[in-house]
Amino acid sequence: MLEIRNLSVNYGLHRVLEGVSRGVATGELVVILGANGAGKTTLLKAVGGLVRAREGSSVTIAGVGVLLVEQNAKRSLEIADRGYLLKNGQVVGRGAADALRKDETVQRAYLGL
Ligand SMILES: Nc1ncnc2c1ncn2[C@@H]1O[C@H](COP(=O)(O)OP(=O)(O)O)[C@@H](O)[C@H]1O
Ligand SMILES: [Mg+2]
Repeated sequence: MLEIRNLSVNYGLHRVLEGVSRGVATGELVVILGANGAGKTTLLKAVGGLVRAREGSSVTIAGVGVLLVEQNAKRSLEIADRGYLLKNGQVVGRGAADALRKDETVQRAYLGL
């Protein structure tokens, strides 16, 4: 189980993540889709404790997590149960992986269709 509450991260003055709150239940596979620079790597680094989050952020992890980094957005949506769309450090969309795969905006933005 992973619970992210109000996660914000800066690199100096650059505010990369702004109040991201998300959860992943036990056994669930969740994909994060985002353009280059959206903050995907920073989100994962903050969860892993590799970058320091701003005050008021909280990350709770229970159990063992398996992290899969899949650069192919189409493939990642085939594997995952559901997903989040990350844009400029904020979650701007969410849905079941199947629904995201069929979503025209997602297809245009991330699947190259
Ligand atoms: N170590 C760093 N120092 C300063 N800015 C960084 C650093 N790492 C990433 N950034 C900036 O943070 C933003 C998000 O980057 P990143 O989390 O790598 O996005 P993604 O993985 O979605 O491509 C980008 O604007 C990037 O330039
Ligand atoms: Mg990255």
